[in-house]
Amino acid sequence: MIATATKLNHEVKDLSLAPLGKQRISWAGREMPVLKLIKERFAQEKPFAGIRLVACCHVTTETANLAIALKAGGADAVLIASNPLSTQDDVAASLVVDEGIPVFAIKGEDNATYHRHVHIALDHKPNIIIDDGSDVTATLIQERQHQIADLIGTTEETTTGIVRLQAMFKDGVLSFPAMNVNDADTKHFFDNRYGTGQSTLDGIIRATNILLAGKTIVVVGYGWCGKGTAMRAKGMGANVIVTEINPVKAIEAAMDGFQVMPMAEAATYGDMFITVTGNKHVIRGEHFDVMKDGAIVCNSGHFDIEIDLEALKGKSSEVRTVRPFTEEYVLKSGKSIVVLGEGRLINLAAAEGHPSAVMDMSFANQALACEYLVKNKGKLEPGLHSIPTELDQEIASLKLKAMGITIDTLTPEQISYMNSWTAGT
Ligand code: ADE
Repeated sequence: MIATATKLNHEVKDLSLAPLGKQRISWAGREMPVLKLIKERFAQEKPFAGIRLVACCHVTTETANLAIALKAGGADAVLIASNPLSTQDDVAASLVVDEGIPVFAIKGEDNATYHRHVHIALDHKPNIIIDDGSDVTATLIQERQHQIADLIGTTEETTTGIVRLQAMFKDGVLSFPAMNVNDADTKHFFDNRYGTGQSTLDGIIRATNILLAGKTIVVVGYGWCGKGTAMRAKGMGANVIVTEINPVKAIEAAMDGFQVMPMAEAATYGDMFITVTGNKHVIRGEHFDVMKDGAIVCNSGHFDIEIDLEALKGKSSEVRTVRPFTEEYVLKSGKSIVVLGEGRLINLAAAEGHPSAVMDMSFANQALACEYLVKNKGKLEPGLHSIPTELDQEIASLKLKAMGITIDTLTPEQISYMNSWTAGT
């Protein structure tokens, strides 16, 4: 049964899960005060009246709060999953039943279903696309060029999506504005660092229940996600090794107190490996060959391409599920390697993704970026656009207020000093 008045259907696992989803969405909302304020304003001002919107996000309690805020603002919104394993089925059910939002997302959906959902979303003829990884945007450009005329613009949530948008721009195919939500200060400093740091370890612990203290954990990549993961793993008592290809980030990791070395060497030491690079096959055949028996590998980067699982399969005589999201590959050599979450985002596959308090800022950016696109319809150049500093600062100020933290303001003397160049030694 469709419990909504929308034209569109839905595809969720089980609508009877809605009451649990509703309860959990409300719980997450308690930690999302900034988004709540934005929702209340949207409900008054209706900035999205007449706007068709597609959100391709991880279908979590936090995304539900975003979708509800956008709908309160008048958006005709459709939600699809941005990853086959990240959907929270109770949340998807509640959005359909309680909020009347069409959702197409089922945890564990196969790749064909995932792509079919992308097309169903595009059938909605979106004026705005909220993307997480740029799959909807890439499909629009590759397969639905004629629909670009309907589009006001897109917003992008994650580093991988930004890298893809930059490549689209370089290839001359990005013919509309795309808001770079990821690079807002109130997004990546918190979501990528503290969100990934906590949720990645949460996913690993939920999947394996192993003790991290005393283990050697190799963090592959020292971007914001790598920094957060390494920092939190150290905090749990692990010995952390970082691998990098960027010399500056490698120095940073070394000065943050981590051992830095190439993967060929780190592979021999690690009890556990966490990939957060956004790149392909950063752990591959030659690395599996030298790993310890029982080494655990997992990924917290956007796509499931960081670990070369095909190479691992080729070396294995058997793959067995030993716990949910935990598969043991028994190698022909006799040792075994454990893979978590099929090499997909472990924080969303085995846990619930970033905590609500950081998603509050990420999704405040998404909400305000959508409003900015509508307000500036037809005025923005094609290509990537930063979130305006005023919006970033507004989100930070609202978050501080919600946290009960006050800060200093500049005195008139300080303002004058900061604006002058004549006063020196
Ligand atoms: N990405 C990482 N964590 C997330 C969450 N909790 N909700 C939506 N997207 C996310």
